[in-house]
Amino acid sequence: MSARPVCPVEETAVAPAPDWWQSAVIYEVYPRSFADGDGDGVGDLAGLIARLPYIAALGVDGIWMTPFQPSPQVDQGYDVTDYCDVDPLFGTMEQFESLLSKAHALGLRILLDVVPNHCSSEHPLFQAAVAAGPGSPERDMFHFVTGPVDMTDDDDAGSASGAASGGSIDSANDVPPNNWQSVFGGRAWSRATPGSATDTDWYLHLFSAGQPDWNWRNPAVGDYFDGVLRFWFDKGVDGLRIDVAHALFKADGLPDSPSTGGVVDGLRSNPQVSDQEDVHEVYRRWRTLAEKYEPHRLLVGEVNLEPARAARYTRADEMQQAFAFAFVKLGWDAEAWAAVGNELEAARQLHGAAPTWALENHDIVRSVTRFGGGELGSVRARAALVALLGLPGAAYIYQGQELVLPEVDVPVEARVDPMWARGGVCRDGARVPLPWTDDATMNHGFSLAGTAAEPWLPVPSGWGTHSVERQEQDPQSALNLTKTALELRRQLWKNEIFTANDGGSWRVEPGHLLICERNEHFLVAVAMGAEPVQLPAGTVLLSAVPLAEEGRLQPNNAVWVLRG
Ligand code: GLC
Repeated sequence: MSARPVCPVEETAVAPAPDWWQSAVIYEVYPRSFADGDGDGVGDLAGLIARLPYIAALGVDGIWMTPFQPSPQVDQGYDVTDYCDVDPLFGTMEQFESLLSKAHALGLRILLDVVPNHCSSEHPLFQAAVAAGPGSPERDMFHFVTGPVDMTDDDDAGSASGAASGGSIDSANDVPPNNWQSVFGGRAWSRATPGSATDTDWYLHLFSAGQPDWNWRNPAVGDYFDGVLRFWFDKGVDGLRIDVAHALFKADGLPDSPSTGGVVDGLRSNPQVSDQEDVHEVYRRWRTLAEKYEPHRLLVGEVNLEPARAARYTRADEMQQAFAFAFVKLGWDAEAWAAVGNELEAARQLHGAAPTWALENHDIVRSVTRFGGGELGSVRARAALVALLGLPGAAYIYQGQELVLPEVDVPVEARVDPMWARGGVCRDGARVPLPWTDDATMNHGFSLAGTAAEPWLPVPSGWGTHSVERQEQDPQSALNLTKTALELRRQLWKNEIFTANDGGSWRVEPGHLLICERNEHFLVAVAMGAEPVQLPAGTVLLSAVPLAEEGRLQPNNAVWVLRG
């Protein structure tokens, strides 16, 4: 990249330097599937430490690690028993500290996942609440509600004692306090002490029975989480991804939801648990706390709401980022992308924060598969990744997205996702261990010790064709494309072609050519139709696959254009 093109704007005051996260690309690591340092078939901190140079060589700015804190692993760590420690399955606190300093030495920031909506039913405070009995202050830390026992049916396996499995068998005769549904399927309530005539309380769990919801209306819960944030910020962690950030507060009195209607997704479809106004106070408080540290710590929210509502969580005194989830629901459809892009831009203009792009994470079907699967899906996933990295705002890449890994159809008997067990969809297919080597030994290089147990999820045959090893040797691979895009992105920020003030102006040109004009110098174009289309005027800086024809863009290719 040479100097910035001449731009006929008078020089006025110098804009403040953008915060690091405004231009950042963060790589999501799902530790149990990234690299297995001790050979037990489950990824861990030792494996991640060993593979840090790989992440640094990608050219990303940091890592978001999904939970590795002590947990019975009912929901693969999203059921926490101790927010301030390391589960022995993943390693030790010393290893975490070493990971943090090694990552920092490589220029990588570390973000952790904080899970404030619920804990594990084995968390000491929940156990104390169950033991203390109905009406106790201990129970007020959670949502316990008394309800009559139906003695005709004692078949309720969804209880605090049976919660470790995360399962729940709903007894039709036993009527819970309201009609809320669990996100994972089935009702959102289980008995505290099944079969007891004296303890007739139910407890609320928006996810599995092993994940009781905290009662955020009790100030002690907020104080408890302040301590959790301080613990990790004091250690030098650079930021937090906030799990189910929009659901912490439930409507006062826990009224019935008007819209259950058999929908499995108990969150988005339930206005009594989603997006309650009181929740914003939490993020104001957390932002104040995050800014007591130098450098300021980053808060990024899993706010799975439509753009205008999600953007309210990134107002100037709340989180700095919230994932632009609207995009992950879209197929290969230029009109839909443009419409959602413009909605996100309108939200940015209203509330100031640029969208935070993500096309994949550990909960979502891999984009290769969403966009049609096979060769077609993988070409489109490359194009989508190129588009994503050129859009205004920060971006998150999920491990394996740089390899264009497809979703795996995990054999039914090997599935472990509690969402699947409770009747929902299965998320295991996006969580299969990464293929590092072509060769299948040592679980395709996933296991780094001398011996390798079976991986916690089986890898499909032919997994090595996607491997890091193979892609490193292929100049045209998705892995090398990702590195090139990230390097170019850095140059564009350096040369101020990309700035923190950029906004996306989206439109569709004939032939389903999607265009996002980032600013007067730069645009992203994606050919989403079936025929080649006219390339927009300017210099092509990057294309997802080599251009086949002068001045034309082939279907399923994407380009970055320096506008003429
Ligand atoms: C978030 C996590 C998901 C987890 C759920 C409950 O959506 O990303 O993996 O199951 O929260 O914690």
